[in-house]
Amino acid sequence: MNILVVDDNETNLYQLQILLGGNGYQVITAANGAEALEKARQNPPDLIITDILMPVMDGFALCREWMKDERLKGIPFVFYTATYTDVRDREFALSLGAAQFITKPQDPEDFIRTIRKIIADHKGGSLRPARTPVAEEGVYLTQYNETLIRKLEAKMVQLEQAYRELRKLNEELEERVQERTTKLEATNKELEAFIYSASHDLRAPLRAIDAYVHLLQRDLGPHLDAKGKDVCSIISDNIRNMSRLIDDLLAFARIGRTEMRSSPVDMASLANTIFQELTTPESRGKIDFHVGPLPRALGDAALLREVWMNLLDNAIKFSSKKEHVVIEVDAEQPGDRVVYSVRDNGAGFDMQHAAKLFGVFQRLHSAEEFKGTGVGLAIVQSIVLRHGGRVWAEGAPDKGAKFYFSLKRAG
Ligand SMILES: Nc1ncnc2c1ncn2[C@@H]1O[C@H](COP(=O)(O)OP(=O)(O)OP(=O)(O)O)[C@@H](O)[C@H]1O
Ligand SMILES: [Mg+2]
Repeated sequence: MNILVVDDNETNLYQLQILLGGNGYQVITAANGAEALEKARQNPPDLIITDILMPVMDGFALCREWMKDERLKGIPFVFYTATYTDVRDREFALSLGAAQFITKPQDPEDFIRTIRKIIADHKGGSLRPARTPVAEEGVYLTQYNETLIRKLEAKMVQLEQAYRELRKLNEELEERVQERTTKLEATNKELEAFIYSASHDLRAPLRAIDAYVHLLQRDLGPHLDAKGKDVCSIISDNIRNMSRLIDDLLAFARIGRTEMRSSPVDMASLANTIFQELTTPESRGKIDFHVGPLPRALGDAALLREVWMNLLDNAIKFSSKKEHVVIEVDAEQPGDRVVYSVRDNGAGFDMQHAAKLFGVFQRLHSAEEFKGTGVGLAIVQSIVLRHGGRVWAEGAPDKGAKFYFSLKRAG
């Protein structure tokens, strides 16, 4: 007993194959109406079970062709569908001469029982198609079109609803982002205040240590052996490092305290100028630097200068080990905002640690590999947050990095 099963969905085909095969039927499969017709004409099955919505030739058209074929029209034709469940769809399907219209999902046992009964009735000569197929092509086409339009309308309603839900989700997401940004800004303010007082207080003892090392070197210098001199110079180096750290921290903490003056800022010329400042004619030679058309931003020019300074400094620094460096500055304009980006093809970083990048002293590369104190991106984040924007980054080890920040567009 051969059953031809037609469905464009492989999982559905597989399930029916298992179910029917497990009940002793031979199963032949086809992925659409046209393929099914071809296979049936070569080797007529004892029964056909078909889905309706399929590419190339759908189930309705297949049934229409089936009934026109003298060799096939006597073979029981069964529709098995999940998408066409309207009573009028059923009516139309049966009007084409189908023996049965089964809607999914069906309990497997019920399904097999129905199939067995159709086969038995057919053998016994008692299986009659519900209707005699409409002969006239015009009538068929009108009904066929109506059925499709009904389907389309139902799909439109579904789509519209999905669209509404999506829009609502988007709005909620936007709200959550806003909430997070506000919280982040508050945390940042606290952190800035703490860092300001702590680094301020650290300066005095550091200055004292520095003074004592100088004294030591001046008074005891001639009596110190090589090891003693080494130790003194190591202490001096570390004092210098720490002093730089404190300066960076104070610069970071100062951002929250400086007054902001917003005006339209020409971001393209800012990015170009800073790139020139950060490079020498020699180092520029191996960097392909592109600045796309950048809309003007609304913000504080001095603070935004710091943002470009840090992002471009990083892009240059972390790509310095590449033979051929490409740095691209670009912008997109969603709504009334601008998202600026700086991309490089340098060392990159592991996305797993992307959230850490903007924290104070957070570094993903060692100081031996690339120099730095780990404050630059914290400064960038603090400035962008003060402007009501966001910063984020994408990267992959050895595949480069891309840093984004969003601001209000000027006018
Ligand atoms: N363009 C980039 N490519 C790869 N990693 C980056 C890039 N920019 C930043 N990072 C990673 O983020 C870390 C933090 O960057 P940040 O600018 O805050 O610090 P830094 O450059 O190391 O030091 P500083 O800017 O204070 O001199 C870096 O140490 C590095 O690991
Ligand atoms: Mg940096």
